Amino acid sequence: MKNLDVTSSMKICSPGRVNLIGEHTDYSFGYVMPMAINLYTYLEGNKDKDVALYSENLRMGGRFKIDDLRRENNWLDYVKGIYYILQSRGYRVGGMHGRIYGNLPIGSGLSSSASLELAILEFLKENYILNLKKMEMAIIAKEAENNYVGMPCGIMDQMAIVLGKKGYALFIDTENLSYEYIPFPKDLKILIFDTGIQRELAHSAYRERKQFISLILKKLGKHNSKSIGENELSKLSARERKMLGYVVRENQRVLKARDALKYGDIEDFGALLLEAHWDLANNYEVSCEELDFFVNKAMQHGALGARLTGAGFGGSAIAIFESIQDAGERIKREYEKRFMHQARYHIVKPAEGVRVCMH
Ligand code: GLA
Repeated sequence: MKNLDVTSSMKICSPGRVNLIGEHTDYSFGYVMPMAINLYTYLEGNKDKDVALYSENLRMGGRFKIDDLRRENNWLDYVKGIYYILQSRGYRVGGMHGRIYGNLPIGSGLSSSASLELAILEFLKENYILNLKKMEMAIIAKEAENNYVGMPCGIMDQMAIVLGKKGYALFIDTENLSYEYIPFPKDLKILIFDTGIQRELAHSAYRERKQFISLILKKLGKHNSKSIGENELSKLSARERKMLGYVVRENQRVLKARDALKYGDIEDFGALLLEAHWDLANNYEVSCEELDFFVNKAMQHGALGARLTGAGFGGSAIAIFESIQDAGERIKREYEKRFMHQARYHIVKPAEGVRVCMH
């Protein structure tokens, strides 16, 4: 690996994201309300002929030639995926060398992969003068996941990471990609609790749910989950009603949660988060014992609301507090005693999206 030429290197800050509400709604073109958070992937590097990167968190380097984008089934695929999509869209970009580090936990449901992909894309955009608008960047990063990595995700994570704004949540209609910045109350604390669990099941279960919901919508002749009402739901089998019913209610909750934030109704906002969690757990079946345990504990420790965030089956959960004190530490201790493995927590704020940043 070459030494970094620090005098001319460029540093990119790419945030993670947390979803406040609107879970498993983006792949049926519903509503979501995530935010970029102040936990980051940093990429520091220079232009080069080929690609050579070192991940400090993984303690692993990797290199490839930009005309050889074979998949490797490791973290380098997120980098190759961006090259692959750029090339297939006709962009001519060269290589890079550099290092990747940061405080965004990897594989914890806070979109570390989208954060890395967008760090790479931002670097390439700036260094190879690509004329890319923010929304195009989000779409390219989503295509890298869908068409190269093979993860059939929606667009929520990428839009949150590209469009994030300090102090704001992002309300998105994932059908027409319109969005609105919603001020997030300054005195509300957001606790992210990383259960420390990564389940393989998450990938297959995510795929299954996406396919199932798409099939039901097709059967109903609908293109998105926002336009489904009781009339349509009543035509479905019990299982279909249970799954799509969750999505329909979740879309409504996102609208209510957006309004609750706008009007400062933080208690209503918290109640919607909690309701969303139990609907996800009982009807959409993407929770697990560890996430449910956290949600119950967070409420006992004074949270206004709590829920799993991201795809589920482990990963992270959030809780919203007016006064947090040492709740994070106490919940962590109780969790570790109960499950005998380590958890982590972070208190985060809504942050700016991916950008070039200074040292
Ligand atoms: C993952 C996907 C997102 C979204 C969530 C569930 O984070 O990447 O597109 O579907 O799961 O809400």
